[in-house]
Amino acid sequence: MAGVSLRNLYKTYGKNSPYVVKDVCLDIEDGEFMVFVGPSGCGKSTTLRMVAGLERVSQGEIYIGDELMNHVPPKRRDIAMVFQNYALYPNMSVLENMAFGLRLRKTEKHLIDSSVKQNARTLEIEHLLERKPRQLSGGQRQRVALGRAIVRHPQVFLMDEPLSNLDARLRVQMRTEIVELHRRLGTTMIYVTHDQTEAMTMGSRICIMKDGVIQQVGVPEEVYMRPANMFVANFIGSPPINFMDGRLKPGKSGGLIFDTPRFALPVSLEKSRRLLEMGYLDKAVVLGIRAEYVQWQEADAGESQPGEAPIRGEAYFSELVGADRFIRVKAGDDKIVARAAAYDRVAEGTKLLLTFNPNYTLFFNRDTQQLIV
Ligand SMILES: Nc1ncnc2c1ncn2[C@@H]1O[C@H](COP(=O)(O)OP(=O)(O)OP(=O)(O)O)[C@@H](O)[C@H]1O
Ligand SMILES: [Mg+2]
Repeated sequence: MAGVSLRNLYKTYGKNSPYVVKDVCLDIEDGEFMVFVGPSGCGKSTTLRMVAGLERVSQGEIYIGDELMNHVPPKRRDIAMVFQNYALYPNMSVLENMAFGLRLRKTEKHLIDSSVKQNARTLEIEHLLERKPRQLSGGQRQRVALGRAIVRHPQVFLMDEPLSNLDARLRVQMRTEIVELHRRLGTTMIYVTHDQTEAMTMGSRICIMKDGVIQQVGVPEEVYMRPANMFVANFIGSPPINFMDGRLKPGKSGGLIFDTPRFALPVSLEKSRRLLEMGYLDKAVVLGIRAEYVQWQEADAGESQPGEAPIRGEAYFSELVGADRFIRVKAGDDKIVARAAAYDRVAEGTKLLLTFNPNYTLFFNRDTQQLIV
């Protein structure tokens, strides 16, 4: 087994074409489950294919373990790749598909047989070994593709959206299976997806990319609670985070107020102190708050605290998602999503008062879009 190191990696597909991967630096530890996530076209597959040796590196270095890989051909990199479309050989049986890589490497027949059998058992496809790929369901094909990768005991697994052809329920099931497989094998994994839920639930760390540039690398909790910038804040989490424009004004007892033409919200003392230190008094900032930290009550249910002006709005949509209900509220020009419980039936048109839990508000620099506190 081995870690993977990407050093100042650049990729362009042509002399006068723009870079689609820019200055990517990342150390993936031995045994880690690293997920690359980001919108379509952000360079995830390109990066993965450079690690696999399927694309030439334009600039920078790729190491697997201590070995520089830039000019090592794919078959000598000791990696196994699983693609979105599985790429099984249609004329070979499941058994032959799984054995193919080992045969190419001239592994002894009895070793191939025992390895294929054992891994087929793990993946619960033992009873399918004689079938052809066309006689399998999507989920079964996916398992065969995984099986074909794991029989080889590679140093690194590379997976590019391996679940995107499966229906929603099977996708969730296979997510867990891949994570468990990884725990059992302990092999370094680089997994590409455009689905933030998949990334959050599977990755031991997540690398979020946009336009070929890494935006943030961190454990799931970190990128959710402390997103490095507005792009990450918005991309990670469902429903997306709420953003609001405002200005920081002096409040009472040394704290700040996040002020807009329609409402004013207190900023926690700790965040106020740090914002003041960094010179944000009277500056325009963007406030970010996730739906679960928006507190709401019906407008006639209580009075607001003196000295604060809560947000007054009107529910215009309510969406039930399992145990949660998301209430969409229009407040002047702002649209804010608040989380409620499934049993909170808020009728459309209900007038609401919203407040934000000041411990969970995030503040972003409006120009750079970077997180301040
Ligand atoms: N063979 C190629 N020749 C020219 N440009 C390419 C090639 N492959 C990818 N690109 C371009 O490089 C950029 C990154 O593509 P890439 O496939 O890495 O994106 P991705 O993040 O995997 O997207 P998706 O989520 O849609 O799979 C895109 O702008 C794409 O059009
Ligand atoms: Mg891709």
